[in-house]
Amino acid sequence: MSATSEPSSHGEDVRQMFDAITADYDRMNAVMTLGRHAAWCTEVARRAQLPADGHLLDLATGTGVIAQAARRLYPSAQITAGDFSQAMLDLAARRPAAESITWEPMDANSLRFDDESFDAVTQGYLLRNVEDVAGVLREQYRVLRPGGRVVVLETCPPRGILKLPVALGMRTVIPLAGRLLAGNKTAYSYLARTSLGFARPEQVAATLEGIGFTDVGWRRRFLTTNMIIWARKPGSTPGSAAQP
Ligand SMILES: C[S@@+](CC[C@H](N)C(=O)[O-])C[C@H]1O[C@@H](n2cnc3c(N)ncnc32)[C@H](O)[C@@H]1O
Repeated sequence: MSATSEPSSHGEDVRQMFDAITADYDRMNAVMTLGRHAAWCTEVARRAQLPADGHLLDLATGTGVIAQAARRLYPSAQITAGDFSQAMLDLAARRPAAESITWEPMDANSLRFDDESFDAVTQGYLLRNVEDVAGVLREQYRVLRPGGRVVVLETCPPRGILKLPVALGMRTVIPLAGRLLAGNKTAYSYLARTSLGFARPEQVAATLEGIGFTDVGWRRRFLTTNMIIWARKPGSTPGSAAQP
């Protein structure tokens, strides 16, 4: 599939859902994460360890929070931010300083870029929305330069002694907030369901290692319901900042 080809029927459903919640997306995110989302996006951008003049690809950029955080951290980097929701991209492109970022429609399943085009690839809440997680990560491996980094922000099932109450809270509070604040219970029921049903960090790490990534690490955030995972493509290119 090329970058311009149509998403699968699953992808089309997901795309339409995000188109429909674009206007309320940032407000809902702030409410559901008690304002922590922006800090996680900054951490994702920081963990990308982009060389000063490097090239970052932010997939599933949504309203562009990770891309904007990367712009603040790496003022002279080239930043390309993509999403298959045109409504999200339109909103992102209206943000302050958005003109220094290239906003581009793209499906993460099949990227139009040549092999080894980017120094880092980031993504917030992409993987639980795709049917082929390993395939999407393999595509990122392909477009990364040797030594380049991938960083993933994603929801995950909670663990530990708070597991049951937190899961119950997610099942009830998130759809309710979606209905009351965004008028869309369906989209936020989907969020709760896919978050609780998604992989644990250990499983995503194993998938990354299976593809060939090294130096995989992760941290759980927010009562263990969110994770940030990072990894490196082996090797290094002259002039790249392939840090340990
Ligand atoms: C929950 S939002 C996250 C936005 C942003 N990364 C953040 O952290 O706020 C998920 C985004 O992924 C996009 N998305 C889902 N599947 C995609 C795919 N296969 N290709 C490109 N974008 C996709 C949706 O359109 C949506 O904007």
